[in-house]
Amino acid sequence: MAKGYQAPRGTQDILPPVSGQWHHLEDTFRQVCERYGYQEARTPVFEEAALFARGIGDATDIVSKEMYVFEDRGGRSLSLRPEGTAGIARAFVEHKLAGEKSAWKVFYLISIFRYERPQAGRYRQAHQVGVECFGAGGPDVDAEIIALNMAWYRDLGMKGHELRLNSLGCPACRPGHRQALTSALADVAEELCPTCQGRLDTNPLRVFDCKSPSCGELVANAPAPLDYLCDGCRSHFDALRVLLDGMELPYEIDPRLVRGLDYYTRTAWEVKYAELGAQDALCGGGRYDGLVEQLGGPKTPGIGFAAGIERALVALEKGGITMPETGAGGVMVIGLDEASRQRSVLLAEEIRAHGLRAETDYFERGLKAQMKQADRLGARWAVMLGEEEMASGEATVRDLMSGDQESVPLEGVAGWLGERVVTPAP
Ligand code: HAM
Repeated sequence: MAKGYQAPRGTQDILPPVSGQWHHLEDTFRQVCERYGYQEARTPVFEEAALFARGIGDATDIVSKEMYVFEDRGGRSLSLRPEGTAGIARAFVEHKLAGEKSAWKVFYLISIFRYERPQAGRYRQAHQVGVECFGAGGPDVDAEIIALNMAWYRDLGMKGHELRLNSLGCPACRPGHRQALTSALADVAEELCPTCQGRLDTNPLRVFDCKSPSCGELVANAPAPLDYLCDGCRSHFDALRVLLDGMELPYEIDPRLVRGLDYYTRTAWEVKYAELGAQDALCGGGRYDGLVEQLGGPKTPGIGFAAGIERALVALEKGGITMPETGAGGVMVIGLDEASRQRSVLLAEEIRAHGLRAETDYFERGLKAQMKQADRLGARWAVMLGEEEMASGEATVRDLMSGDQESVPLEGVAGWLGERVVTPAP
């Protein structure tokens, strides 16, 4: 036998019936975005590698260690996208979508690629849903996007998740904080882990995100950005909090919350789900008022978030939330002899034309085996055709949920079902 292949390390196959759960998460997300006035954007899976280096930051782990960079046959340096924001911002600039007093609001459902060490909840190909809003810089937009974020989890039935909020300041107040942080850390520099020692020069803020407990202790009392906010950032943050309180969205201020991407300014947030263990971030987002300009566009504020689908699924499962799987509902059309089998193929087609899922048996099996198949498929109805039905011109239709059964004229079965099964039963 030829050698078998396996999916690459850090990737997974999403197969039926689990793919139905993915649809549920994605459909719910689309509906939420629709309510908030966001429309879908699709950008390429790969971009110029330099876009991510510039947008996300050279010194970040994502860019320096985790990108899938490759040279194409034309010698261009490209990268599979490690996240969605940079590509969307590139499209915003490229298509000149900036306008006076106008907001560009988009959502996306994407695969992202990061060469990370795979573990529970961390993949090399992961999936995100996310939104980005360009052009509006006020705290009202921050509140609205955080509300959208939380509405998705609410609509999914998620429980036990926690919203953590911080402000990272802006180019006006950051240097003051950076200086205070670097001088505070200078005293303990030698005790920091080698990675954090390296961060002192390149990106000191990232020391807050170090997973090593000894670094955690060393930076526990280090100056936080929140204590160094300029007046503008402070009043933005206060106004956001008033709005979140007004919306009755619970949150916790986390002065040590920093993000793994460098483009953030002001508001930053994450939603955590403690039971996920080491990879407990369900999603992350924030404001990035300098990104568009950094990518060659006009000065334009921006804000967004992205949420992992894999992690949301695990959290829902841990919370005991049942989700629909592929294939629930629909009709099994059962033919019991040569003639009725032929008729069942045609009848299934008529039923599909009425918008319902219909399936037939491919293997000339008997009634019992076909009923089992109906059960496996999660069918809601079984339509049975045998010698008797063909002679009388009436199909036997069974509601598999209630067990009720009745005869329906063959010509009218599809319409009859169409009227009853408007949406597939859960
Ligand atoms: P991020 O925090 O890097 O932010 O990723 C957002 C979420 O994607 C994470 O909280 C996690 O749920 C999921 N995720 C990321 N990497 C992986 C992985 N390797 N395996 C499984 N899940 C993963 C961003 O990507 C930003 N672009 C978010 C954003 C949008 N900020 C502003 N706009």
